[in-house]
Amino acid sequence: MTKVLGIHSSPIKNGNTAWLLDYALQEAEKAGKVTTETVALSGLTIADCRHCNWCMTKQTPDRLCSITDDASPILEKIRECDVLILASPVYFSRLSGTLACLIDRTRCFTFGKSGHLALKGKVGVALAVGWCRNLGMETTLAGIHGAFLLHEMLAPSCHAAGALYGVGVVSGQRDEAFSYKRDKLGVKDDREGLHSTGLYVREAIRTAKGRLK
Ligand SMILES: Cc1cc2nc3c(=O)[nH]c(=O)nc-3n(C[C@H](O)[C@H](O)[C@H](O)COP(=O)(O)O)c2cc1C
Repeated sequence: MTKVLGIHSSPIKNGNTAWLLDYALQEAEKAGKVTTETVALSGLTIADCRHCNWCMTKQTPDRLCSITDDASPILEKIRECDVLILASPVYFSRLSGTLACLIDRTRCFTFGKSGHLALKGKVGVALAVGWCRNLGMETTLAGIHGAFLLHEMLAPSCHAAGALYGVGVVSGQRDEAFSYKRDKLGVKDDREGLHSTGLYVREAIRTAKGRLK
């Protein structure tokens, strides 16, 4: 079984990013022999990494970080998964602060006493949802992608999906006059973005399955 963990960081529980992540996990399941789990960061308490370096000297397999908060069980889930999908809304051309906070807390896996580069070889997928197609989508994806690279994770690119760092999907759909419609879940209408998401996620699953052989 390939374990896929999807985490999204929109404060809106049933918003575009949550919908996209759900869609991505359904696409992952189509690959077969896949288990999926979703974590929504909205409403959780996730403290900033304090750079206390506790993880470097005192970490145990049962306690990854000096801070105990809502990130603790999520860090354990990240350690257990094969494919990690991180989905963020685009905020000022970058990932949301909530996801950035969680990513900073994964430092416990880079220099952790009970496992140096503990996420190495896992497969990472970055997803971004922006109101506009070219207003920070790729910089958001690159930010998430950079975290995968720092962990020496595998982050496949997928030419067929037109996706280099991950997939960006647009939520602000326009009508015939190019005025923005106010549809709450505009992400559902970005057919190209969703098609790319399916291709990209399946490529990630293929990569993970190849590695698990
Ligand atoms: C603080 C803030 C900053 C935003 N900045 C951008 C931006 O730089 N580029 C963009 O395309 N959309 C931007 N948006 C729009 C959101 O990315 C867009 O509405 C997205 O669908 C939100 O996802 P959600 O529905 O899952 O919350 C911003 C929204 C907020 C609240």
